[in-house]
Amino acid sequence: MRDFLTRLPKAELHLHIEGSLEPELMFALAERNRVRLPFASVEEARDAYDFSDLQSFLDLYYQGMSVLHTVEDFYDLAMDYFRRAHAEGVVHVEMHFDPQAHQVRGIELPVVMEGLALARRHAERELGLSSALIMAFLRDQDAAAAMSLLDEAAPYWEMLDAVGLDSAERGNPPSKFVEVFERAARLGIPRVAHAGEEGPAAYIREALDLLDVCRIDHGVRCLEDPDLVARLRDEGMVLTVCPLSNVRLKVVERIEEHPLPQLLEAGLRVTLNSDDPAYFGGGVLDNYLACQRAFDWDEATFIQIAGTAIEAAFVSQRRRLALR
Ligand code: HPA
Ligand code: ZN
Repeated sequence: MRDFLTRLPKAELHLHIEGSLEPELMFALAERNRVRLPFASVEEARDAYDFSDLQSFLDLYYQGMSVLHTVEDFYDLAMDYFRRAHAEGVVHVEMHFDPQAHQVRGIELPVVMEGLALARRHAERELGLSSALIMAFLRDQDAAAAMSLLDEAAPYWEMLDAVGLDSAERGNPPSKFVEVFERAARLGIPRVAHAGEEGPAAYIREALDLLDVCRIDHGVRCLEDPDLVARLRDEGMVLTVCPLSNVRLKVVERIEEHPLPQLLEAGLRVTLNSDDPAYFGGGVLDNYLACQRAFDWDEATFIQIAGTAIEAAFVSQRRRLALR
């Protein structure tokens, strides 16, 4: 089954590129940029990745990315990840990135955009791996900051495949960002949002009704609202589920208790993704393998899940045919 799952062409729809920063590269970049890290070694960093909830992870995630300063750093970050993903049989990666988390450190948007763009071009050419860019707004910042970012990104609007909404969910409902998402819609930029990871099912409803999203990131708490589940099914809404993330952030206690089987049973279009692979114990293939071990799914189930991800990806029809 490992061979089959490795060879299966997989698209990843939910990845935070800053969350792909492995401790080895973090240390190398810390040295290159003379940044002090609070860990003495790679092992000590990995040992610190023991989270009690989303916020405890975010604290380390924002600290880790403090080593990213230059175009070359962002290039190395993304290229490192693309190589690992390619080795796991991933053919397409849609990555969230968090400009606001870099701007507060004095790293401006063009640095981030240039580094990521170079890596994307290189990956396409060298690895045949395509990618998409999702510019995320930090929901624990105010809506005005998100609006300024969207304005500032004007030179890059054409490069954005979507905008998204991430960071601390509880207390930061989608409704806070209605105007920003309406503006993105007027600009013709597709929208996705994290909802129903730690937040309630009502946030998933808000993301659909108020932000007009085309995918829900996570969404696992929809099961608390049977009418919502029926709606998600009827609308063919895609959920970008991240099982290892949900275990590490204690959304569920053990992978065996993950609601993925119920989501599939309910007829929902689920996909499997890594979220923050450097922090949560593995990439896309590891997430597929963890589900295989926990749920004993057959090949047809994995073919269905991988097919859903390719159907739901922000790629051209021509590319879609090539991926199949
Ligand atoms: N959830 C919400 N925001 C995030 C995450 C996550 O798992 N990773 C990076 N930003
Ligand atoms: Zn996420």
